[in-house]
Amino acid sequence: MKAILLGTTELKSRVILAPMASVTDLPFRKIVREFGNFLMFSEMVASQAVIRNVMRTHKMMDNADDPLTSVQLVGAEPSVMADAARLSYDLGAKFLDINMGCPVKKIVKSDAGSALMKNERLAAEIIEAVVNAVPIPVTLKMRLGWDFEHKNAPTIARIAESAGIQMITIHGRTRSQLYSGKANWSDIRAVKEAVNIPVIANGDIIDEQTARQALEESRADGVMIGRGALGKPWVLRDIDEFIKTDSISEKSHTNQAKYEIAQRHLDYMLDFYETPTAVKLARKVLMYYCYGTHNASKYRQQINTIETIPAIFDILHEIFQA
Ligand SMILES: Cc1cc2nc3c(=O)[nH]c(=O)nc-3n(C[C@H](O)[C@H](O)[C@H](O)COP(=O)(O)O)c2cc1C
Repeated sequence: MKAILLGTTELKSRVILAPMASVTDLPFRKIVREFGNFLMFSEMVASQAVIRNVMRTHKMMDNADDPLTSVQLVGAEPSVMADAARLSYDLGAKFLDINMGCPVKKIVKSDAGSALMKNERLAAEIIEAVVNAVPIPVTLKMRLGWDFEHKNAPTIARIAESAGIQMITIHGRTRSQLYSGKANWSDIRAVKEAVNIPVIANGDIIDEQTARQALEESRADGVMIGRGALGKPWVLRDIDEFIKTDSISEKSHTNQAKYEIAQRHLDYMLDFYETPTAVKLARKVLMYYCYGTHNASKYRQQINTIETIPAIFDILHEIFQA
């Protein structure tokens, strides 16, 4: 299999962390980074907010100068996307990604995200504007199409490749599916066959077996992991080792290891956010680490009512050391 090359950077792993709004913040990326040199994406940042210098948006781009982090831009106006691209580059971004997959109503209503798949001309203009605005690699993330009758990902992929996009990720669902049904990895193959740049398969890849199956069915160059990494940041390393060596890693699977990982993740959050925000977000993160532990349902209730930092760590201790 050909190496995945973005500009002059050769990716050491075919496993990539997905962009996830309100999830892949800097603390999350820091904990995933401990498990390997994976390409990662920021949460999507609204191009309008980037150029208006909105503080919350700029916080999302903290550490944008990490050598393996890509900033994902969302928007529908070519000139704004280009300006946001330039600003991200000035902030140190090494890679940029264009969001053409987001199905959320608010985004789609403004013609951005997956709505761009319905408007190939505008999609092309945005791609050209962003690629021409910056000297760094630009990638694209999209779905199979708007709906089952319009699975035009291969067409957009060709447009993107000829405009200079360097890698394409396909979430194997249409917009109309939102997150329902199962991702169709074999449909991703049509994109792989349409272009010569790397294609990454995404959707419902949660472990070694699903990664292998997705790679076989799509013939993609790599896999992108989203929800599978929630509360399991080590899963990217497990999948990476399996792809490379065919062996299953269980290094982080003891309760003690999970406890220490969750503890570090929460510490990173406390460093990054003001306390009230950290506590609120920590409830969600704790919940993910709690899934699958023996009496998870008992703790869910307690986690939801946490108000203080010591309470976060007390309950974490209880979950994993009890
Ligand atoms: C909470 C959440 C937030 C997401 N935010 C983004 C985003 O900001 N940009 C994007 O391109 N996709 C976003 N996605 C989609 C994921 O990147 C991914 O395409 C999708 O979840 C399918 O992959 P998975 O089954 O591995 O999770 C988000 C998904 C979730 C669950």
